[in-house]
Amino acid sequence: MATAAARCQLLLVAVALAPLLAGVAGVQLSSRFYDRRCPKLQSIVRSAVAQAVATEPRMGASILRLFFHDCFVNGCDASILLDDTASFTGEKNAGPNANSVRGYAVIDAIKTQVEAACSATVSCADIVALAARDSVNLLGGPTWTVQLGRRDALNASQSAANSNLPGPGSSLDTLITMFGNKGLSPRDMTALSGAHTIGQARCTTFRDRIYSDANVNATFAALRQQTCPQTGGDATLAPIDVTTPDTFDTAYFENLASRQGLFHSDQELYNGGSQDVLVRMYRRRASTFFVDFAKAMVRMGNLAPSADTPTEIRLDCKKIN
Ligand code: HEM
Repeated sequence: MATAAARCQLLLVAVALAPLLAGVAGVQLSSRFYDRRCPKLQSIVRSAVAQAVATEPRMGASILRLFFHDCFVNGCDASILLDDTASFTGEKNAGPNANSVRGYAVIDAIKTQVEAACSATVSCADIVALAARDSVNLLGGPTWTVQLGRRDALNASQSAANSNLPGPGSSLDTLITMFGNKGLSPRDMTALSGAHTIGQARCTTFRDRIYSDANVNATFAALRQQTCPQTGGDATLAPIDVTTPDTFDTAYFENLASRQGLFHSDQELYNGGSQDVLVRMYRRRASTFFVDFAKAMVRMGNLAPSADTPTEIRLDCKKIN
């Protein structure tokens, strides 16, 4: 048995190592990470997101997507927030992000408030994770406890952003594989896809679907064709959920059941394959969808940058310190 002195020494070593360990990717996150370091953090984020969503409901959808696009590219490390410079190419202009990922200004504004309350303490990555949770909840969806203690990367990868994020033409097999590559199950993937119950998409992302897909509701395709012509109008927006695009509900799964998924990849979840049964269940039971979505968001939020990624607490989310 260790003596009291030995135990005390161990404790001292642990305390001394803590800041170093916190810099190591993959370190255990904790819901109480900022309880003492920055007690006002969660209320600052919540009220800023509430204001942003009240001004423009779509912003909730945009922030949720920002989190997904951060986490799928070398972990949830705020790499997506870094601006390009003369000597640095980040992720903002990667194919899946350019001209479509939004919400950067909201995150920057939250960061400014958080820095004023507790400087050099809270990572941009944690702010995005909290803001995504609050976005979902403020639009009528579930809430969950966010695990905290992420650190911000000093680098970003445009090539990983181009290759790790699934596209709207993806098959079910591709979706299952790409989420599987991140340690997420097919069930996580289908639950997370329910995020498409909010937000908007550009014509260029669903044109093939409404003109060329077999498995599409004809009335729905005709409706979307009115504002998304075969040529031109690439940036024209349409709601991803045809019925309630500003409410986080089960309408996305309802739409899939009536072949009104906006993306080919959406409809792949209900096309006679392995996820049909889950789509039917989520459609019937909002509570099951909400529980699964929250669990999958926590799992996605656990994606960490590789251990050799240098990290810091960024002071300005747009650039490294
Ligand atoms: C399953 C694979 C997925 C594919 C293929 C996909 C694809 C897309 C595409 C093409 C858009 C429209 C982008 C544009 O207009 O350029 C979009 C929007 C969106 N996606 Fe996904 N997505 C997927 C999964 C997810 C996940 C996991 C989440 C979050 C948990 C998410 C949240 C959103 C949201 C909220 C929007 C609307 C954003 C806004 O209005 O600003 N997506 N997605």
